Amino acid sequence: MKQADCYLAYICCCRFRTKVYSTSQNGRFVLMEPMSQPETFERPVFTGVEGFIRLEGVSKSFGDLHVIDALDLSIRKGETLSLVGNSGTGKSVLIKMLIGLLQPDQGKIWLEGREVQNFDEQEWMPIRRYTSMLFQANALFDSLTVYENIAYPLREHFSMPEQEISNKVSEVLEWVLLPGIEYQYPSELSGGMRKRIGVARAIVTQPQIVLYDEPTAGLDPISTTVVGNMIKRLQHQNGVTSIVITHDLKSAMEVGDRVALLHQGKVQGVDTPDGMLASTDPVIHDFFEGYRMMMEVLG
Ligand SMILES: Nc1ncnc2c1ncn2[C@@H]1O[C@H](COP(=O)(O)OP(=O)(O)OP(=O)(O)O)[C@@H](O)[C@H]1O
Ligand SMILES: [Mg+2]
Repeated sequence: MKQADCYLAYICCCRFRTKVYSTSQNGRFVLMEPMSQPETFERPVFTGVEGFIRLEGVSKSFGDLHVIDALDLSIRKGETLSLVGNSGTGKSVLIKMLIGLLQPDQGKIWLEGREVQNFDEQEWMPIRRYTSMLFQANALFDSLTVYENIAYPLREHFSMPEQEISNKVSEVLEWVLLPGIEYQYPSELSGGMRKRIGVARAIVTQPQIVLYDEPTAGLDPISTTVVGNMIKRLQHQNGVTSIVITHDLKSAMEVGDRVALLHQGKVQGVDTPDGMLASTDPVIHDFFEGYRMMMEVLG
């Protein structure tokens, strides 16, 4: 199926979706009136810290495979950056370097002004308390219940009473529309449910930085909207800074204040969604061609 046909199939799914939605207030997650459309927030005007997350001249190879090549990227505090690019271009590798799971071969990485690329495990620990990642393959522990999976980062990084852990787990489960499944195991859940458990685990610590690797892959249109709205609410209510990797360009455009296209180891362009669509750079233009066709069909 061509990319444009995939988008048309997606549009048809969206037209028939039902109405469910949840949100949060003051850190509490509360179910709200049903809502089928993406929530609209005014795009923030960034007066805050430039280079809150910054990569300068970063390279990463695996043997002869040069994945990231002298890459520069700067992300503002409180911004949501959508990171797009063809499969295998190094999107996951890039964000793994931001949380210390991979070390760059060259270049520098700053998080909140601290140069981190040479940090050891001990030095990464306090950063991981306020930075979390949703892994592309979810990385749930199969031998642990949903409850223990979500509680894991709370136990690892914080000391809190069991009742508080229990409350937080219930709250995030409600937020991803899976209340009451605390005592099931990942193997008993569908792929989309596992993805949402991964999202719940990524946000349960109320992190300041969240790196989402394909948060909506395999999700139905309702869940895709719920997760997209959740990312935006975390940004607008808690000031969370996020990078969202996705192949779903509609989500990328809706959720991202800016969109970065990764191509041949470098950032080919980074701009607002409208800016990317208007780009005359041939690589960027071609990449968004399918998306433009979809928007024309939608009118
Ligand atoms: N730990 C590793 N060891 C060796 N090669 C790796 C490792 N991690 C990633 N790679 C290689 O780096 C390249 C980029 O991988 P990466 O997972 O970042 O791609 P991606 O852009 O996230 O792709 P996708 O959209 O399919 O998830 C791939 O060729 C992959 O095989
Ligand atoms: Mg990936």
